[in-house]
Amino acid sequence: MKNRIYCGEINLTHINQEIILYGWIDNYINLGKLIFINLRDREGIIQIIFTSSNKTIFKLASTLRNNFCVKIIGKVVKKINKNLNLSTKKIEIVASNLFIINKSKALPIDNNILNTEEIRLKYRYLDLRQFKMLKIIKNRSIITSIIRLFLEKNKFLNIETPILTKSTPEGSRDYLVPSRIHKNKFYALPQSPQIFKQLLMIAGLDRYYQIAKCFRDEDLRSDRQPEFTQVDIEASFVNFNDFKNLIEKMLCHLWKKIINISLEKFSVITFHNAMSTYGTDKPDLRNPLKLIDLTNLFIKKNNKIKNNIFNRIVSICINNKYLKNINNKKLDNYKLYINKYGTNNLNIFKVKNHNLINLSNKNNKSEFFINDEISKNIILRNKANNHDLIFLGTEQINGTLSSMGILRKKLSVDFNLIEKNTWFPLWVINFPLFKKDKIGKLISMHHPFTCPIKFNIDDLQNNPENIISDSYDIVINGYEIGSGSGRIYNNKVQQIIFDILKIDRQIQKKDFGFFLEALKFGTPPHRGIALGLDRLVMLLSNTNNIRDVIVFPKTTSGTCLMTQSPNFINKYILKELGLLCITEK
Ligand code: AMO
Repeated sequence: MKNRIYCGEINLTHINQEIILYGWIDNYINLGKLIFINLRDREGIIQIIFTSSNKTIFKLASTLRNNFCVKIIGKVVKKINKNLNLSTKKIEIVASNLFIINKSKALPIDNNILNTEEIRLKYRYLDLRQFKMLKIIKNRSIITSIIRLFLEKNKFLNIETPILTKSTPEGSRDYLVPSRIHKNKFYALPQSPQIFKQLLMIAGLDRYYQIAKCFRDEDLRSDRQPEFTQVDIEASFVNFNDFKNLIEKMLCHLWKKIINISLEKFSVITFHNAMSTYGTDKPDLRNPLKLIDLTNLFIKKNNKIKNNIFNRIVSICINNKYLKNINNKKLDNYKLYINKYGTNNLNIFKVKNHNLINLSNKNNKSEFFINDEISKNIILRNKANNHDLIFLGTEQINGTLSSMGILRKKLSVDFNLIEKNTWFPLWVINFPLFKKDKIGKLISMHHPFTCPIKFNIDDLQNNPENIISDSYDIVINGYEIGSGSGRIYNNKVQQIIFDILKIDRQIQKKDFGFFLEALKFGTPPHRGIALGLDRLVMLLSNTNNIRDVIVFPKTTSGTCLMTQSPNFINKYILKELGLLCITEK
């Protein structure tokens, strides 16, 4: 296969060269004696001229229409007539030959306007012809290649793991594939290659990576797809600091190469501090707002708070320099907004001459008893100046969602507090090993293979909720980019974790017996991480929609508008799979 030259690559160094181009007609003008076309391929556009000197070619050129697929042979020249410009380049091609490879119907989608996502996804292959989409796809390819090269240089082996597999507990529902041969049995598509990569460590492969497809049947969001890609990494005999340095080095390298940014130092914060200061385990540190804990002011002073469920009382202070066009109606909306997340006593104060004026209640009455001294302390703790706003409310926490943390985020957007073009990477570490689910059952905060940190067996068994894990997330500008942990490498500890999770010994044997067995054969200490490749590409391509970085994505309801999947299956196939009983006469 010969090396190709693309329209977008032709430059002054090609002057006088005869070249062959393949592409699509992007625009054309027929001036009678001259025909101009813009030829487009994945790298860009170049202007082509047909002169009437070659009658046959000229006649053929006059039949060209937009989006025809063509082959053109011609000579690169400096632009002759600068007024006749379809493209801004200083060069053009004088065509000596033309082959119409394929005509095109008028497109059902006009890429010069803003199309609905529905039509874009239905005709995704045409939507992808936009340069902004092509750029993201190329970016993704380069990002993947940089990561591969980096990891391979650091002695990581690229190893593939099965797609038809057994359930891996990552906290989501599995996609299942029925087995034709083993009736009533199913494979699960991997939620991640977690168990396999750990088994590779037991196999002694020592440093593994994989650009791995993962499948999770969960509710979708702007940064979640049912089928997504991880940069999955695992290494043996490495402590957290060395591992952390390696991942930071890789991300710095990536940011430098792709957007020429030198990432500053990565901050490190514990899960506990992240929740208490920002009300989230994935804080966007570009947002300058912090939650200030005022609970003890109220507890000590009046010991009665008009709220059924007592949590922390926290405040958020916005500096007056950010406050423009504020009116009480707008502020009242925050009360409604936060109510949805459980804070039903949000009060909004303005600082005036060292006093708090309640803006959210006409009578200047607060749900909180605030005397002069408390008022002074609130101002002091918030380091508030005259005319600043203070939002005060009881925080309700639901898992890793805090009502006041949600308000912090909303305020940063509404008051335009997020600094553009800045990057705040950070590690959130030391998550609890367990959390409670909706019905109060203990479940793993990450996954059941995460190692507890500094623990003794008694504590683990008696106070599992207080146990901290050797786990870490990487967060960049509020996006959880990756997550990982040190792993349990002792068979007994692994079994205790399963016991705490109330996985019956029989089920342990049935579902994880192979893994518990493997842990008995000289398992090395190991740790790893999985980075969300789609999210990395989102950040590096400046989009907040995950569907922009996946060539053929699913909608938020998990469908593919182009292929119409998922779809009904013929009943005979279902029968063959043992999923349907058909009685035929
Ligand atoms: P976790 O489940 O946290 O960890 O996933 C790791 C990273 O994958 C990305 N991610 C997703 N991206 C798009 N759509 C989704 N539905 C989705 N779910 C997750 C996120 C996340 O940080 N096996 C462990 C990793 C480990 O311990 O090594 C795991 O999969 O960026």
